[in-house]
Amino acid sequence: MSDLKDRSIIITGAAGSIGHATACVLASRGANLMLVDVNREGLAERRGIVAAFGTRVETCHADVSRSDDVRGYVEATSKAFGRIDGLFNNAGIDGKVASIEQFEEEEFDRIIAVNLKGIFLGLRHVIPVMLAQGGGAIVNTGSIASERGLGGACAYNATKHGVVGLTRTAAADVAARGVRVNAVLPGVIDTPLLEGMLHTMFNGDVALGKRTLGKIAPQERIGLPREVGEVVAFLLSDAASFVNGAAWAMDGGALCTIRH
Ligand SMILES: NC(=O)c1ccc[n+]([C@@H]2O[C@H](COP(=O)([O-])OP(=O)(O)OC[C@H]3O[C@@H](n4cnc5c(N)ncnc54)[C@H](O)[C@@H]3O)[C@@H](O)[C@H]2O)c1
Repeated sequence: MSDLKDRSIIITGAAGSIGHATACVLASRGANLMLVDVNREGLAERRGIVAAFGTRVETCHADVSRSDDVRGYVEATSKAFGRIDGLFNNAGIDGKVASIEQFEEEEFDRIIAVNLKGIFLGLRHVIPVMLAQGGGAIVNTGSIASERGLGGACAYNATKHGVVGLTRTAAADVAARGVRVNAVLPGVIDTPLLEGMLHTMFNGDVALGKRTLGKIAPQERIGLPREVGEVVAFLLSDAASFVNGAAWAMDGGALCTIRH
């Protein structure tokens, strides 16, 4: 069953595109949600949309790179729903683009703090609650950049490789005690941020930009945030009861071949 009725699930980065689309999928399957983000206004706006599915939806303003904040969203969820069945450990930032010999140390540290330490802290503080209650499921957000180099983005790329390492090790640590930990690796996903970039790169022809980027994948298109959410919903559900320590790409096949 991929039904999530009455499950209590935390989503970090819930004011963003993939987090919000996933929240809509999970709520439509019956889950009660704690939406977490640093963006207060975004959280309030997204909450209104997700709540229309009829389940309980709470928000928590938190910076995932700060342990006090992470402890705060874990406690807020336990208080609101009495348990934590799922965590979508998803908040992340892209950072500046620069070749590695020019990449600034401060920028490297900033990206590591959110994309890697933030994932660790989510695991570190949610897993004890899941172990105490007898089980749970976690999905961390990696990227196709977890499996390939990405010129100009050394810190982002290193963090996304690191997310897979944390996923596998966390699964090895807690699988026997009823907690599943998996990762999703989105390819290029159609988000407002991407549209902004394509507007600049393709002189306002966003559609051409999407078609061009889509060519990295055999399916020859970019993905939708909802397509990530559907896989996350599966991995958080009992339908994925024997899936553990896995890194699932949803990339239209980009990682399966070399396009030329
Ligand atoms: N969009 C893509 O094409 C794509 C591809 C592969 C992987 N990803 C990954 O998917 C995840 C979500 O990306 P998205 O496209 O929805 O981006 P997004 O910018 O729309 O959403 C990210 C959200 O994370 C929040 N956030 C940033 N720093 C935070 C912090 N310190 N604490 C709490 N929240 C914080 C932001 O406010 C934002 O709402 C990221 O981990 C990203 O690396 C995205």
